[in-house]
Amino acid sequence: MSRFSLPQDPLFQQLNTSLGYDRRLWPHDIAQSKAHAEMLAAQGIIGDDERDEILRGLDAVAAELEGGTFDFDGGDEDIHMAIERRLTEIVGRVGGKLHTARSRNDQVVTDLSLFVREEAHATAELVQELAETLVDVAEAHLDWPLPGYTHLQRAQPVYLSHHLLAYVWMLLRDRQRLRFASDEAAVLPLGAGALAGVNFDTDRTLVARELGFEAVSPNSVDAVSNRDFAFDLLHALSVCATHLSRLGSELVIWSSEEFGFVTMSDAWSSGSSIMPQKKNPDAAELLRAKAPRVVSHMTALHGVMHALPLTYNKDLQEDKEHLFDAVDTVQLSLRAATGMMSTATFHADRMREAAADELIAATDLADLLVKRGVPFRECHGIVAGLVRDAVDNDRALSSFSAEELLAHSEHLDDGVAAVLQQSSWLESKVSEGGTSLARVREQLAAARDALQ
Ligand code: ARG
Repeated sequence: MSRFSLPQDPLFQQLNTSLGYDRRLWPHDIAQSKAHAEMLAAQGIIGDDERDEILRGLDAVAAELEGGTFDFDGGDEDIHMAIERRLTEIVGRVGGKLHTARSRNDQVVTDLSLFVREEAHATAELVQELAETLVDVAEAHLDWPLPGYTHLQRAQPVYLSHHLLAYVWMLLRDRQRLRFASDEAAVLPLGAGALAGVNFDTDRTLVARELGFEAVSPNSVDAVSNRDFAFDLLHALSVCATHLSRLGSELVIWSSEEFGFVTMSDAWSSGSSIMPQKKNPDAAELLRAKAPRVVSHMTALHGVMHALPLTYNKDLQEDKEHLFDAVDTVQLSLRAATGMMSTATFHADRMREAAADELIAATDLADLLVKRGVPFRECHGIVAGLVRDAVDNDRALSSFSAEELLAHSEHLDDGVAAVLQQSSWLESKVSEGGTSLARVREQLAAARDALQ
């Protein structure tokens, strides 16, 4: 019997179905169903022989799904219905007992929690690989100077190692956020039923232990309504994608002929359909462009959840594609970033030449005056006047004679020549976390330590 007197409109079915994308949840749905069947038998809700039949059937369904022989054309609405239908085809009526003390509402959010835990972990591993690669590249270019930029204008020189390690710290924070998302998804919703709990004395702790959850949700209404852990993963992914976009962007800029700091491997570049000379950093450009897509998935879920009355609403089905695409996009981007970074060639000469721009020693000249007792604000003005003199007259700072320097300030003595030695601008940054080699070496060790 059915409650309905009319068949579903095919367009409604097209709108309503989630099988096209939620089929990827099948391993979690099978694992969950097995744990649930075990629990039902342990609590005497189904017989041991019934449990065995159900488990046998679930293994057979899993084998079909794994082997690609599962028939998805049964008109099922979602993966949960598809698996239960096939189970019942295989084991007969007893398959219908699996859904005792369970609703698709607690079932789907349990699958999703398992998905978030697994993918947060997998993404963290990829973050780790990229961070390790960056540490290796940093170590291999430990004392290669390049300009550091603010406003994309040359600001102060740094070592390439120092610049690359900046990304390692970002990635370590990404790893932390991914762990948080995984922890937030470690509370078992199953057992909440449709929303109010179930009419059986279930053992949720047993199911939690079986599936690797740390705790059991304390409120059934919250359990079926909650998608916070999905937000947590989407947020972690959004921030990570944003980091990768900054890395991608720098690689695009640095690989331009104007900069010439890096050459991307041919394996990560493409040509032009019309200009034979072109070698384009497409991979780096796509790293740059993927971030807004990931962020928009997070924004979209906020839209879905906004003002949504408790508890389950079909709107919640719209959580999955956003989550799935965000996970796939960031995992692909991380793999690509690792490939790009481990094969890129940096050009010491071009970076050194840019870093040799004497004007970027201006802060160091100001600091020289500070050491002579002049208040920093006054030093800033004195050096600004000197820089203006140099720029207006198209002269290098090192070309100023002793008299000319003294005309700008009595404190601009022969200490100026020492400051204008390029390595001094880098090695003078002795503060903790600064770019002097000793500090970068400390940092490398600390980064390796954090990645252990
Ligand atoms: N496909 C649904 C989803 O993804 C499963 C839950 C359906 N529950 C319901 N009461 N219609 O959310």
